[in-house]
Amino acid sequence: MARESKVRDPSLAGKGRDQLYWAERNMPVLMEIRRRFERERPLAGQLIAACLHVTKETGVLVRTLAAGGAQVVLVPSNPLSTQDEIAAALAEEGVYVYAWRGMSEREYYNAIGFAASFSPTITLDDGADLTVTIHKLKHGVRDRTVEYALETAGQTDADKLVEKIRGGTEETTTGVLRLRALKREGKLAYPIIAVNESYTKYLFDNRYGTGQSTWDGIMRATNMLVAGKVVVVAGYGWVGRGIALRARGLGARRVIVVEVNPVRALEALFDGFEVMPMDRAAEVGDIFITATGNIRVINLNHILKMRDGAVLANAGHFNVEIDTAALDRAAASKRSIRPYLDEYVLPSGKRVYLVGEGRLVNLVAAEGHPSEVMDMSFANQALAVEYLVKHELPPDVYKLPDELDEEVARLKLSTMGVELEEMTEEQRRYVSSWELGT
Ligand code: ADE
Repeated sequence: MARESKVRDPSLAGKGRDQLYWAERNMPVLMEIRRRFERERPLAGQLIAACLHVTKETGVLVRTLAAGGAQVVLVPSNPLSTQDEIAAALAEEGVYVYAWRGMSEREYYNAIGFAASFSPTITLDDGADLTVTIHKLKHGVRDRTVEYALETAGQTDADKLVEKIRGGTEETTTGVLRLRALKREGKLAYPIIAVNESYTKYLFDNRYGTGQSTWDGIMRATNMLVAGKVVVVAGYGWVGRGIALRARGLGARRVIVVEVNPVRALEALFDGFEVMPMDRAAEVGDIFITATGNIRVINLNHILKMRDGAVLANAGHFNVEIDTAALDRAAASKRSIRPYLDEYVLPSGKRVYLVGEGRLVNLVAAEGHPSEVMDMSFANQALAVEYLVKHELPPDVYKLPDELDEEVARLKLSTMGVELEEMTEEQRRYVSSWELGT
């Protein structure tokens, strides 16, 4: 199998470099890590297979890993999120890239097989499709997606493949849940650092990154005004919190949260939002956004209850939260009316509008989280990779050590020109007297 990059259009590389330049200007923490990596080359000899959204921010991470001495292979973590100009620019710089926007399911898993064919020492994942596929290979699972991956993975000896992997990282909530499930089953074959569990990741990326970029996607696709609307947010995890917060900031008339967890529901209520089941919210909402990680959070019954003109979008990792298959079957007709906006006419004559095919709206209909927030997420990724290279860990799911998490926060503050208060000697002594129990 020829190990050659495959991108939509190599001539887009110049445009991609401009985008990367812009992202680098807004990712000062990662750039600081890159300068240290250039001096120390801590990743020399590593082969990193990264399954991430192919965006300008990911490009800055990939360049940083390469500056640390690694050879990088990059494949997408969603069939519809690739920015083709970034894929072209990175391929030109010597990264092995197999990615284009709008891949079929088969092409998507061919890309994952391509990444495995390099026999990486480290894997980076966003959603765990690469890691899970490698584990399926190891455990002899042969389903449709694995068959697709095998078309490009070549004669991979699964045991050898896994033996060579020192460890991996996982970027997102859904991926961490999948990998913890593998661990519980006793099947996790190598250590994973759950980057999503760093404070400097989830408190910022999940909340403020998704909060802004989800609305960016909905607004680009619809150009609708949010002020005066009734917004329904399903799920009040960090992502849902961010989306609800920004809905309020954009002037939504009512923000309704749908939750299954009583503590989160209570929190939403005390944060000033209404809380009710989807059945009731369906009747009153103008814009519906799912952020639960679960399936069929908006089902056909909900959709049939919605008002004419309701807009539906998903911010969760997989396109399972809105039952688009049932909608396709039930609709009298469907047509695309703008990029990333489909109109469905229901048998009653009412119309509903689906943004970005129900796939993660911020990356499909916009550009994903802004660079400033990915700066921290990907600083965690870079430090996690370095940590895996420097430490032998047994297979488990780990959090990045708190010192490194704090280091990212310190660097971010310093690049923003913000100073911390420091404890006086007297305060230090006072606090350490507690630690001694005196
Ligand atoms: N996930 C969310 N936003 C992203 C971005 N801009 N780049 C890579 N992954 C992302």
